[in-house]
Amino acid sequence: MSMPELIPVLSKNEIKKTVQNLGTTISSDYRNGQVVMIGVLKGAFIFMADLVRQLSIPVQTDFICASSYGNKTCSSGKVSFSKKIDIDIVDKDVILVEDIVDTGLTLVCLIEYVKSLGAKSVKICALIDKQERREIDIEIDYAGHSIEKGFLVGYGLDYAEDYRNLPEIFNLKL
Ligand code: IMP
Ligand code: MG
Repeated sequence: MSMPELIPVLSKNEIKKTVQNLGTTISSDYRNGQVVMIGVLKGAFIFMADLVRQLSIPVQTDFICASSYGNKTCSSGKVSFSKKIDIDIVDKDVILVEDIVDTGLTLVCLIEYVKSLGAKSVKICALIDKQERREIDIEIDYAGHSIEKGFLVGYGLDYAEDYRNLPEIFNLKL
């Protein structure tokens, strides 16, 4: 068995600049307001931790964990959450924070769930927008980087639970 190869994609500095820019844009869009950021576990934990520290507006934070669901449809209550939202989001402006958007199926279900809880608005912030396998045309309001394809690890992103701790982002070639 050969060792997996890690090809650098985003350096620490590039990630830092991207997160700063996202924080500045979001703070400006929601100026005079406040926002509830909901991170999608587990992949978003590092990105979310850095992003909230770049905001100059009041922010409440929570996390959600969508557990694996058979055929990935949100209808007929097939989505289950192993961690739901604890805080009250009725009439709040919510931003869902994702590490990477791939097919878009996870997010579509999460948006539906957050709306059903009475949020005033729901926007999406993703560190990486991966386009090749997109199945649902969702609007990513705040996207850090776009890539065409590849499997990325590091900065929260995993392959079979490994590599989340890497401070940079790599393309994993098995
Ligand atoms: P989607 O429902 O296909 O958009 O799934 C998105 C989720 O799949 C992300 O939140 C990640 O947890 C995982 N994922 C998709 N692409 C990658 C990748 O390149 N590296 C690591 N995780 C990924
Ligand atoms: Mg994820």
